[in-house]
Amino acid sequence: MKRVLITGATSGIGRGLAEYYAKHSLVYACGRNEKVLGQLAKDENIIALKLDVTKPESIASACEAVEDLDILILNAGSCEYIDDAKHFDGALFKRVIEVNLLSLGYCLEVLLPKVVSGGQLVIVSSSAAFVPLPRAQAYGASKAAASYLAQSLAIDLEDIDVSVVHPGFVETPLTAKNDFPMPMSVSVEQATKAITHGISKRHKDIHFPKKFTLILKLLQLLPINLWLFLSKGIKR
Ligand SMILES: NC(=O)c1ccc[n+]([C@@H]2O[C@H](COP(=O)([O-])OP(=O)(O)OC[C@H]3O[C@@H](n4cnc5c(N)ncnc54)[C@H](OP(=O)(O)O)[C@@H]3O)[C@@H](O)[C@H]2O)c1
Repeated sequence: MKRVLITGATSGIGRGLAEYYAKHSLVYACGRNEKVLGQLAKDENIIALKLDVTKPESIASACEAVEDLDILILNAGSCEYIDDAKHFDGALFKRVIEVNLLSLGYCLEVLLPKVVSGGQLVIVSSSAAFVPLPRAQAYGASKAAASYLAQSLAIDLEDIDVSVVHPGFVETPLTAKNDFPMPMSVSVEQATKAITHGISKRHKDIHFPKKFTLILKLLQLLPINLWLFLSKGIKR
């Protein structure tokens, strides 16, 4: 049985991944929501760990008993938008960077030494990392940095394969609050299938749905002035 640790396993993408891996692996499912952690722990293949990814001491104490890991999936995250760029909300920026970026450093410090040689590290970023998007100064910056972190680790970690996940829109509680159209959005089941397939093949860049992410990857190649002009069209 593989041993898989997943942060953000109490909801959305992380919960989909936890339920998938629990069919044939031992899953350490991490989150703060005690009610959902209790539900997950009813599965004999799931060990629920209550932790806050923004608090290093919480990660260290919750994961003390975790031994070897085959797959470490750092997925916990949140999304908040900057509504008024001119009156920049520094507290919002800090919150998003802490949950989506600094947490990765805290988790890596405690958990990377537990990943066995030949094991895998998976960091869930976002396709928002590909191009600058309106109102995404905090979220997009955190995810662009998360992708860089993952790809830089892929250079230096010689015995661990690193994958970075760039989802398009996935229907989860995180996106349910979005007040704008989400083109080509996919279900948690579709996201779980795409991510677990990519992990099984040890793909370095797991991105989906392809039609959506390939368009963003093409836009990424445009001169920045052209993208800034085009992006006015998607500004609400
Ligand atoms: N949904 C999308 O369209 C989409 C697209 C691209 C990328 N992503 C990324 O995919 C990841 C999962 O997103 P999702 O859509 O599945 O969101 P979600 O349904 O809101 O789930 C977020 C998860 O993160 C956990 N979490 C948040 N803050 C935490 C904290 N301080 N400590 C510990 N756990 C924390 C939550 O657990 P607790 O509440 O139990 O703490 C929850 O399990 C995120 O990194 C997100 O940025 C999502």
